[in-house]
Amino acid sequence: MDKHRVLLNGRLLPGVEARLAADYDLHLLAGERDPRAFLAAHGPEFVALVTSAGPGADAALIDALPELRVISNFGVGVDRIDLAAAARRGIPVGYTPDVLNDCVADLAFGLMLDVARGLSAGDRFVRRGAWPGGGFPLGRRVSGARLGIVGLGRIGRTIARRADGFEMDVRYHSRRAVNGVPWRHEPELAALARWADYLVVITAGGEGTRHLIDASVLEALGPDGFLINVARGSVVDEPALVRALAERRIAGAALDVFEREPHVPAELLALDNVVLVPHIASATRETREAMGQRVLDNLRAFFAGAPLPSAVPLP
Ligand code: NAP
Ligand code: 8YV
Repeated sequence: MDKHRVLLNGRLLPGVEARLAADYDLHLLAGERDPRAFLAAHGPEFVALVTSAGPGADAALIDALPELRVISNFGVGVDRIDLAAAARRGIPVGYTPDVLNDCVADLAFGLMLDVARGLSAGDRFVRRGAWPGGGFPLGRRVSGARLGIVGLGRIGRTIARRADGFEMDVRYHSRRAVNGVPWRHEPELAALARWADYLVVITAGGEGTRHLIDASVLEALGPDGFLINVARGSVVDEPALVRALAERRIAGAALDVFEREPHVPAELLALDNVVLVPHIASATRETREAMGQRVLDNLRAFFAGAPLPSAVPLP
């Protein structure tokens, strides 16, 4: 039987690409010098699309694939996939929830400890030979501090559970209070920011959360508060954050995600009260392997006529 023709938008781990290529007639859009011309000539050949957080799948790409029957996303965030365009055509969208909760939560704590205790800054201090010239500035305590979580979904709840081990006082903000959890819901984001020592952002991305963390929230967080963003760059007003950091109106920030990845504002590179990492929250061998498996499982189920193990609820 002919293999189903699958288009890959962006690149995945070599192992995942190899397994996709073994099961399907896989084509890499990234290998095309003129993707638009390629799609005009070959778009109708593809029945499945595999993508990830960065490249996503906009309406133009979905429209260029008139025979498309399923999308499988390597990642849980689907803010760059035009879900309305998929829904209009009845195209199910698979994604990879839950398998990455632990690693994203671990990184949130890694970032929190780093920005509070100065791990990266201390490492730079030692390497540049500054230690013999004097002591390193005091950090701030994480254990027992107040943790505000913006978005208490799958990952947010995992972060909240980690905080138990640090004996932190946890509150959260989301549009709806979550039933059956021990943490206090704060309906006003600014009030949560005012209360928190550490504000961790882990909402969905997209238009609904664009610049949720704006100048007023940063003002409420105040000169002793730290911001940690492991959600999407779009959730934070980056110019407002740069100003707040430069003017020391917040204590510091630790960022895994940025508004224009892979570009990081030059102003941030110059600041010592910010920790910057390149969108690595899920990037462990174990978790990326599990995500790749889910991408394959979603496709396999679809072509077997079964429900997708993890389907995005479509609008
Ligand atoms: P989830 O279970 O769907 O949780 C999303 C949370 O965001 C919910 O608590 C939701 O609560 C809240 N939320 C949505 N819109 C909001 C708004 N306008 N104001 C306040 N809260 C809002 O998703 P998840 O699996 O935890 O993943 C969360 C996000 O993390 C993903 O969408 C992705 O963008 C990001 N992520 C990043 C990485 C990384 O590598 N840095 C890795 C994985 C995931 P309400 O609906 O009640 O508001
Ligand atoms: C990945 C992510 O880095 O799951 C998400 O939403 O942002 C991350 O797990 C991404 O999907 C791989 O590009």
